[in-house]
Amino acid sequence: MKVGNRHYRSIWRTADGGAAEIIDQTKLPHAFVTHRLETVADAAHAIKAMLVRGAPLIGATAAYGLCFAMRDDASDESLRVAYDTLIVTRPTAINLRWALDEMMAVLAQLPVDRRAEAAWRRAADLCDEDVAINSAIGDHGLELIRQAWKRKGERGRVEVLTHCNAGWLATVDWGTALAPLYKAHDAGIPIHVWVDETRPRNQGAHLTAWELGGHSVPHTVIVDNVGGHLMQRGQVDLCIVGTDRTTATGDVCNKIGTYLKALAAHDNDVPFYVALPSPTIDWSIDSGADIPIEQRTPDEVARIAGRTADGTVVEITITPESSPAANYAFDVTPARLVTGLICERGVCAASREGLLGLFPERAAGTTVPRSK
Ligand code: MRU
Repeated sequence: MKVGNRHYRSIWRTADGGAAEIIDQTKLPHAFVTHRLETVADAAHAIKAMLVRGAPLIGATAAYGLCFAMRDDASDESLRVAYDTLIVTRPTAINLRWALDEMMAVLAQLPVDRRAEAAWRRAADLCDEDVAINSAIGDHGLELIRQAWKRKGERGRVEVLTHCNAGWLATVDWGTALAPLYKAHDAGIPIHVWVDETRPRNQGAHLTAWELGGHSVPHTVIVDNVGGHLMQRGQVDLCIVGTDRTTATGDVCNKIGTYLKALAAHDNDVPFYVALPSPTIDWSIDSGADIPIEQRTPDEVARIAGRTADGTVVEITITPESSPAANYAFDVTPARLVTGLICERGVCAASREGLLGLFPERAAGTTVPRSK
């Protein structure tokens, strides 16, 4: 997507070929700063400290992490150490493991002297594949928005609620949940987006609002507790969120608070869609209860950052010094609360049957071909 007049992806190989560059998302929306990653430790830090975040982008960054390792030392030991370092950076988004395994499948079988070049090539391909997947999700989601527009008699605008940031910053480009919104806006369908601020890290207020503003998509930031009220009043036509891991039966793990939105949507007959790239499906898990839920530092709950009137960005404490805080980063929305999964191959029911309808190669007894 564009920042100003320039097209950006959220991660790219540097012009000198030896490193990768990212947008430091901890600085947005107050400053647009890019950051060079050169080592496995740089990539691990960027993921852990959330300079990059969002399930697909975490995977892409880890893939480049393996490139850095192979550039310096392409031995089996170096590959294993880099893999082990990167895999533990964040526990919930399955795209991290998926991307590392995709890289491993190519690299482990190659002679050492061919690994570095193959790593750069595979990482670039993974990024391109992510962009294509998200664009296809955008096309399928666009049709849902078009239908909502028709149901409204093509009057007013389609009101969409989203949670966290599942936009181009969370992926390599386009985004998952936001891709249909960009495509609808570009297609001339009037839309308006309710953006959940998404405490504690405020990815909605900081990142989704910045992205949508950059693309001139009408939007309003709301605090996390407003969605239920808006749905009761008929002010939301549909919800679209992303996911960090979806089980083989369609249980959806996403940013904390997603479940409450799904409950409110269910109670008010508001369609609740999840944009789901296939690398985010964990085919090995049947129940959302088995998904590891990241717990982050309580400081993210107790403290909040913002810009003062003079432009300085400061962090302040908002809780009593003596009060403990808990920081669960994700929750699970059971499949029964999900109207549909918007995948790159189409829209399906949130169920094993639905997913297998789109990905029949995943049925038991079927040999799974690698994408590359
Ligand atoms: O903790 P984050 O910011 O990495 O969480 C991101 C989300 O929960 C997104 O909704 C999810 O990764 C989908 S990204 C396309």
